[in-house]
Amino acid sequence: MEPTDLNRRAWDEVHRRRADAMAGRLGLPSHVRRALADLSGKRVLNLQSGTGESAAELAELGATVTAVDISPEALAVARERWPSILWIEGDVQALPRELRRGRFDLVYTGDGVLPWLQDLAVWAGGISSALRSGGDLLLYDAHPVAACVDALMHWRDSYFDESLHANVGWSHFDLPGDPAREQKVERHWRLGQIVTALARAGLVVGALEEYPEQQGKS
Ligand SMILES: C[S@@+](CC[C@H](N)C(=O)[O-])C[C@H]1O[C@@H](n2cnc3c(N)ncnc32)[C@H](O)[C@@H]1O
Repeated sequence: MEPTDLNRRAWDEVHRRRADAMAGRLGLPSHVRRALADLSGKRVLNLQSGTGESAAELAELGATVTAVDISPEALAVARERWPSILWIEGDVQALPRELRRGRFDLVYTGDGVLPWLQDLAVWAGGISSALRSGGDLLLYDAHPVAACVDALMHWRDSYFDESLHANVGWSHFDLPGDPAREQKVERHWRLGQIVTALARAGLVVGALEEYPEQQGKS
C-alpha cells in the first residue's frame, strides 16, 4: 500500500478520538493568529484541516473557508460541528481541479502537516495554482531540526536522513480506547527542500520566521 493510503487509514482510526482527547488544544496557534491580516470577506483554503478546528476559527474571523483533508473520518467530525464550511476530501498532493483556479486570497496549512507529504513539488504546485495573483500562503509547522534533536538540543538523528519512517501509535496525545493498529509513514523534510519547492512553484518568500518553541492554540 502507498504511504498516503496507509496514512489515511491511520488518521481515520484516531481522528474522532483525537479531537475529543485534544479538545481545547486544537485550532490556530497563537503565532498564526498574530500573523493573520484582516480576513473579512477573504477566501481561505485550509489544507490538511483535520477535524476542522482551525478552519472554524478562520471562518469566525470573517473568511469564507474551504477545507481539505484526506481523512473521511476527520471530515465527518468537522461536518457535524461546522456544517456551513465547505469540507472537501482530497489529497493535498492532487488537489481537485475546482480548487486550482487561482481564486483564494490565502492558503493556510499548519501544525503537523509536512511529515505526511511524499511529493513537495506537486504539493507546492497545488498551493500556487489555488492562490490568486498576490495571494498568500501561511505555513506553520514544527521546525525540521526539531525532529533530529533531543530535549537538550543535542543531535539525535541525521538532518539529512531521507528515509521513510513507518510506525504505529501516537505520541502527541493520549488515545482513549483501543490502541492504534494502523501503520503510518512519515518523512522529515529539510527547510531547504520546503522553501525550494515553494519557490520553484512560483511563490515568493515574504518571511521565514523561527520560534524557540512550538506554540499551541491562542
Ligand atoms: C497533525 S494533523 C493536522 C490537522 C490540523 N492542522 C490540526 O491542527 O489539527 C495532519 C492532518 O493531515 C491529514 N493528511 C495527511 N496526509 C494528507 C494528504 N496527503 N492530503 C490531505 N490531508 C492529509 C491527516 O488526515 C490529518 O488530518
